[in-house]
Amino acid sequence: MHLKDAVDAARERYRAGNPASERQLAEAAMVMPGGNTRTVLFHAPFPLTMVRGEGAHLWDADGHRYLDALGEFTAGLFGHSNAAIRQAIVAALDDGLSLSSHNCREVALAREIQRRFPSMALMRFTNSGTEASLLALATAQVFTGRRKILVFDGAYHGGLLSFGRGGSPINAPYDCLIAPYNDLPAVEALVREHGAALAAIMVEPMLGAGGCIPGDVAFLQGLRDLTRRCGALLVFDEVQTSRLSFGGRQALLGIAPDLTVIGKYFGGGLSFGAFGGREDCMQRFDPRRPDALAHAGTFNNNVLSMAAGLAGLQQVLSEAALTALNQRGERLRERLNAVLRAQDVPAQFTGLGSIMNLHGMTGPVRCVADLAPSSGLMKELLYFELLERGVYMAQRGLVALSLPFDDAACDTMVAAFEDAVRARAGVLRG
Ligand SMILES: Cc1ncc(COP(=O)(O)O)c(C=O)c1O
Repeated sequence: MHLKDAVDAARERYRAGNPASERQLAEAAMVMPGGNTRTVLFHAPFPLTMVRGEGAHLWDADGHRYLDALGEFTAGLFGHSNAAIRQAIVAALDDGLSLSSHNCREVALAREIQRRFPSMALMRFTNSGTEASLLALATAQVFTGRRKILVFDGAYHGGLLSFGRGGSPINAPYDCLIAPYNDLPAVEALVREHGAALAAIMVEPMLGAGGCIPGDVAFLQGLRDLTRRCGALLVFDEVQTSRLSFGGRQALLGIAPDLTVIGKYFGGGLSFGAFGGREDCMQRFDPRRPDALAHAGTFNNNVLSMAAGLAGLQQVLSEAALTALNQRGERLRERLNAVLRAQDVPAQFTGLGSIMNLHGMTGPVRCVADLAPSSGLMKELLYFELLERGVYMAQRGLVALSLPFDDAACDTMVAAFEDAVRARAGVLRG
């Protein structure tokens, strides 16, 4: 059987097994384009509708139970409805929503973040990582008095800052230079030509949506040196990589960026984003200044996100818990790759710690161009095969562990993956 035929057959089995999810999408399509309000979730023939989550498990509209290996694209670090976070949300509700003013929780949350990320000397909150990225770039432009931004091929800094496959027509209209990831000489050449006009280099210390491609230490350190020399700001987008250690990937690398963007799990599972960094840049937002930059946002300090984020950081996400999660992720990635090697299937998981991505190819992966020969069909087939075995990951190949995803969950996932790969080894080998 050819891979394409195997995928078609898997899609049909999926369709037959998930009538409620299919109906849900048809209904949604009456009021939302394609029935979708979050593009990343869509896949053919229709995505699952989930109705419940608990710990590291999910239930869909047709009653299937899954081990949740996707972890809300890294935002679901705490799993589903952690007890301490739940209690904090209820307490915040009891104190009343929509206080129309400063509240006590925002400063506590900022302190917790700063304790982890000392480079964020001052910070401001937003509602999403996208918004935080946009504001970090705007900050860099105002601070430097320059306009150009250098980003990387395959980078994702939010819905309006997406640089996969040549960029997006709905990107914010920044004057962008796009360089290949992990290619310092290419960046040096661009900086030689445009350095005097460059406001910022923005980089994910590991490409996330681009496929979990880690940035080399020398590359990231090189960006630090280059930005210092040309007077541009170095912006680390740690929306995903912040979870790789207590102080994010910047702590692991020993590199202090000028500005950092975070989001996702820092809101304890609720909507959140933050940007912050050098005091001299961020002071520009001080409203006591006559020339203050105004950054509004009704929900920037909404009490539920503040309460949930604070409880998550103070009561759940200890340094030890985070270290253990990332070590578990490293072991899981090695075990999944061992399964692929043992079956001689030309695929691999790349990534760091608790975040990884499947690719339908072998060989080194240092930038998105290396993924060009990757087989999307292979990922699609394994996605459906894993669903049939009760494991939910992203069809694009992303796996992101949550705290309740324990060693037993890893064993379950490896067993399901091994069973799926063995069953389809012939077709996966091509
Ligand atoms: C690296 C990175 N930056 C920014 C964002 C945008 O965050 P949000 O989805 O909260 O807007 C994401 C989201 O996936 C991300 O992975």
